[in-house]
Amino acid sequence: MPESEQELADVQREHWQQTYGEHPGMYGEKPSEPAVHAAAVFRAARTGDLLELGAGHGRDALFFAREGFTVLATDFSPVGLEQLREAAGVQGLAERVTTAVHDVREPLPLADSSVDGVFAHMLLCMALSTNEIHALLAEVRRVLRPGGVFVYTVRHTEDAHYRTGAGHGDDIWEHGGFAVHFFSRELVDSLAQGWRLQEVHAFEEGDLPRRLWRVTQTLPG
Ligand SMILES: C[S@@+](CC[C@H](N)C(=O)[O-])C[C@H]1O[C@@H](n2cnc3c(N)ncnc32)[C@H](O)[C@@H]1O
Repeated sequence: MPESEQELADVQREHWQQTYGEHPGMYGEKPSEPAVHAAAVFRAARTGDLLELGAGHGRDALFFAREGFTVLATDFSPVGLEQLREAAGVQGLAERVTTAVHDVREPLPLADSSVDGVFAHMLLCMALSTNEIHALLAEVRRVLRPGGVFVYTVRHTEDAHYRTGAGHGDDIWEHGGFAVHFFSRELVDSLAQGWRLQEVHAFEEGDLPRRLWRVTQTLPG
């Protein structure tokens, strides 16, 4: 019998918990390149309050806070978020960063039109089905104010790991315990319906290297 989406998500959550437990601060302290780019985009759009999805141990959330934004950092791994909170305390940023344990397959824990910007680096390409990704986009749209900006990154179908390892269907492939939904350009375009798609920028990260798109889209004002 094929595994359910719930079973896959539960296994992935445990895997991320264990990974952050065994490798605290695994992504390092420096912000990701997409976060550095996004900060400039958010600033130009007069963003104050940010929501970060899949923040992990917080290399980017802490950077945004240092840059003067107020950040709600969410992730389904309490272990990662605990590392984030500890670093925020050490860096004197606790007032600017709050955390919430949250699985993006659930409604976002925010009121309608309550944030100026949303950032998600390598979160939408986790073990989420196409339907779950569309539902998440509807939630991001709900919590963003009119004119708000969404910057996200995803691994895509030209990545070396696409169609290798264990297949879970729906373009989800698993390597070393990490399941990834590899995005097609059609999926990116379908997620931008009703938004203004500003940019789809190809870039690489890490040693493989991972091949990603950085997508910037805004809500009509
Ligand atoms: C590839 S890591 C990126 C972490 C962080 N954005 C960074 O770049 O440093 C993906 C993150 O998404 C989280 N994650 C995966 N599936 C999730 C889900 N369904 N809901 C919330 N977080 C999830 C993982 O715990 C992990 O922290």
